[in-house]
Amino acid sequence: MDISEKKLIIAIDGHSSCGKSTVAKDLAKKINYTYIDSGAMYRVVTLFAMRNNLISSDVVDENKLAHHIDQVSISFKYNNEKQRHETYLNGELVEDEIRSLDVSNNVSLIATIKFVREKMVAFQRELSKAGGVIMDGRDIGTVVFPNAELKIFMTADVEVRAIRRFKELKEKGEDVSLDAIRENVQKRDYIDENRDESPLRKADDAIVLNNSNLTPAEQLDWIVERMNEIK
Ligand code: DC
Repeated sequence: MDISEKKLIIAIDGHSSCGKSTVAKDLAKKINYTYIDSGAMYRVVTLFAMRNNLISSDVVDENKLAHHIDQVSISFKYNNEKQRHETYLNGELVEDEIRSLDVSNNVSLIATIKFVREKMVAFQRELSKAGGVIMDGRDIGTVVFPNAELKIFMTADVEVRAIRRFKELKEKGEDVSLDAIRENVQKRDYIDENRDESPLRKADDAIVLNNSNLTPAEQLDWIVERMNEIK
């Protein structure tokens, strides 16, 4: 049976801005799997919290957020024209807004909150019921799908990651500095790795991919090779 028919779960975890979503999307296209961006879910909750003034000076009003979290409905659609996956908050297209530096600066805080994580994990499992899924995030191989058939842990040098994200945001017309991005990447790594709830860890059975010196095409080939080794 070939991979497309096997309907496996492939978990891609790793550091911020190291290209997890790029390779996950490329792979999903290649093997006809569903791509699920778990980080987008935490970003949507962050945007919701920011819009409702629930975050100030790096502190989240958790009581209010808990009270309102059921008003957050997240959905994804593929935009054929733009050829991209797009994220919606209560039916409103928020794909660009959730990638802004403002949201990036607050999202790790939101991702530390237990009830937020529980809700997101339940949603991630629900969306993956049929299998044939590639999901990227921080806790996919450790918490969401500990039995995933293939687990990749991705990383790259901080400077390489900062430059990549800088170029991406500049292309979108955001006025950002490389220093601010580097700081954001380092801060997110720190919070993701040191939080109490589902900290970023390499699962024992994950394979490490450091893509500092790889092109997107090379890293895709690398993952396809790993996939073909699955018995
Ligand atoms: O992958 P990303 O940069 O879009 O993720 C945004 C933030 O969400 C990141 O700082 C960590 C958090 N996150 C998480 O805690 N668990 C996940 N499964 C995915 C993302």
